[in-house]
Amino acid sequence: MDIITRLDEILREAKSDIEKVSNFEELEKIRVKYLGRKSEITNILKSLGELPKEIRPSAGKKSNLVKNEISKLLENKNAQLEEKIFNELIKKESIDITEPGEKIPIGHMHPITRMRMEVEDIFTSMGFAIMSGPEIELEYYNFEALNIPKDHPARDMQDTIWTEDGNLLRTHTSCVQIRTMEKFKPPIRAIAPGRVFRYEETDASHEHTFYQVEGLMIDRNISVANLIAVMKTMLKEVFKRDVKVRLRPGYFPFVEPGFELDINCLICGGKGCPVCKYSGWVELLPCGMVHPNVLKAGGIDPNEYSGFAFGMGLDRLVMMRYEINDIRLFHSGDLRFLEQF
Ligand code: DAH
Repeated sequence: MDIITRLDEILREAKSDIEKVSNFEELEKIRVKYLGRKSEITNILKSLGELPKEIRPSAGKKSNLVKNEISKLLENKNAQLEEKIFNELIKKESIDITEPGEKIPIGHMHPITRMRMEVEDIFTSMGFAIMSGPEIELEYYNFEALNIPKDHPARDMQDTIWTEDGNLLRTHTSCVQIRTMEKFKPPIRAIAPGRVFRYEETDASHEHTFYQVEGLMIDRNISVANLIAVMKTMLKEVFKRDVKVRLRPGYFPFVEPGFELDINCLICGGKGCPVCKYSGWVELLPCGMVHPNVLKAGGIDPNEYSGFAFGMGLDRLVMMRYEINDIRLFHSGDLRFLEQF
């Protein structure tokens, strides 16, 4: 076989070999086979000098041509392999940054907690301090110091949960009024949000455990006008609109005079609807001017100072805002209820 024909054959073989290659290792083996130091073409190039003069130039030219051609094929194959691997990598490892993340269910604050924090913010912005007292309370703070005589119905077994050693679960946050007066001298501006307990048959509007926010403001010349102004400011912030209020007489031993504060019905705007029982008004919270005996119990001279107090039901406020009709839902632990907020 003449050398030119052999070179053509080598090129064909190389082509077919390279086509079959599927990885870099194989490719390297093929390169060594066709272009390596011991390859046939290298041998031909080395021994060109031994060829007859007439065919030497064409054989040399052909050898280089074939060598270059094989080099090119190897290079192309190398590029192909690189691309293939790169594409596989993209498929395997690339991330789609537009794909929405996996939603991890997280909780959120209880609607009562949220309302408490809102109310705290409103009052701190008016210069009120936030106080707290114990949930297990002395009889003295819950009753005696608040001018609640021994025979007051609030002391009945039905209302109060007593501990075996004669203490009680506070039935209201008003105890913190006394604790605050004992600690601070007037002027006093404080609220005391917290949990309270009643020995109670539960129904849609009664729970054994619920939340109140006590409020107390004591200074010289504090009057009902201050009470109304503070209440209106607070309600405007809570309900995000102007709220009309009215006071009716109400009896609580620790205030004199005592009031029930009503607001105009937010559902019908005061025209009358089932929520306000067609009266246009909704009972919101009890309040009043701090009784002189209570000031005295707190170590404050009633001839020099006066003050107002209120006790707001936090659960009730949340129920009004979201039109919730059963107070027991708050402690039900029912996610179908809680997830709505
Ligand atoms: N402590 C009362 C209760 O739980 C509510 C109350 C009424 C608080 C009048 C006050 C007040 O501060 O002035 O029933």
